[in-house]
Amino acid sequence: MANESTGFLHAIEMGLGTSAWGDRVIWQYGLSYSDADLGLAFQTALKEGIALIDTAEVYGSGLSERLIGKFARGSALPVLVATKYFPWPWRLTSGSVLSALRGSLARLGMESVALYQIHRPTPFHRPERMMEAMLACLEAGLVRALGVSNFTEVEMLRAYSTLARHNLSLASNQVHFSLLARRAEKNGLLARCRELGIRLIAYSPLEMGLLGGKYGPENPLPGSRGVRYAFLTNRIGPLLKLMTKMGQDHGGKSNAQVALNWVICKGALPIPGAKNAAQAQQNAGALGWRLTPEEIAALDEASDAIG
Ligand SMILES: NC(=O)c1ccc[n+]([C@@H]2O[C@H](COP(=O)([O-])OP(=O)(O)OC[C@H]3O[C@@H](n4cnc5c(N)ncnc54)[C@H](OP(=O)(O)O)[C@@H]3O)[C@@H](O)[C@H]2O)c1
Repeated sequence: MANESTGFLHAIEMGLGTSAWGDRVIWQYGLSYSDADLGLAFQTALKEGIALIDTAEVYGSGLSERLIGKFARGSALPVLVATKYFPWPWRLTSGSVLSALRGSLARLGMESVALYQIHRPTPFHRPERMMEAMLACLEAGLVRALGVSNFTEVEMLRAYSTLARHNLSLASNQVHFSLLARRAEKNGLLARCRELGIRLIAYSPLEMGLLGGKYGPENPLPGSRGVRYAFLTNRIGPLLKLMTKMGQDHGGKSNAQVALNWVICKGALPIPGAKNAAQAQQNAGALGWRLTPEEIAALDEASDAIG
């Protein structure tokens, strides 16, 4: 059951991911892209009508939020920020959530955010306890809606029921979902989200760039991304080829656009990461058209064949 405060997410088809903004551990922030590139990615996304910007207090150790705040102050277009609370084991009191949110708002230079998410479940705190602590943020008027991330169906239902006891809705569950990561579709999480009006936000919808078509055995993903995807890079050739063919059939859509359109057709909200204007512009081209049910079935089959 989506209500007035959470329903806005259902009207959003795509967002912008910013985990690479300020990050040098996984991504090459400062080497292959600069703050100027990120500022242009931000402006391009907003101009294309993509207002939902996903971040987290831990991205770039706070730099992602700072950059978003700086870029948003320079823009007249509306911005909907979704950030996240990281449940570090030493954050023991319920006040930790409110104080972490205040830290995010200070870095963003904003008075409130659209969506506040628990970044991941933790063995240290029960979902019920974390959601009760998140409520204080809502009551303080600092967030419009509450969500979770990386929650299993059982954990999500516990978070959902906690809010339901207060006549509130859980807005979203942000999980890994792409043509190469279909667990949410296969284990029933996506269907349960749909049934309960919870928006499934799909992170890494381009599989950190692997589905974009630029990378492959001859040109592996750089840095730790290359290590993470070494086992897949040699096996996705047929899927990438099919995506390219389908893109051509739709008037020259790119592999990235096909990958994002597939996520949208499945009923999820993709938040592709972009580090420059060209990527943000191209990702916006995933909107305004749809793969056919036959094409989706063929993509599913090619994805299944990868194993
Ligand atoms: N909740 C969580 O635990 C969690 C975990 C991970 C991510 N996230 C969120 O999800 C967002 C997206 O995930 P992600 O950044 O990991 O990966 P992603 O969106 O799957 O991939 C982003 C990468 O794909 C490449 N790319 C972007 N646009 C492209 C285009 N049009 N054509 C070809 N390649 C393109 C770029 O890499 P190159 O420049 O190298 O080509 C870009 O950095 C994150 O930014 C973050 O907000 C959340």
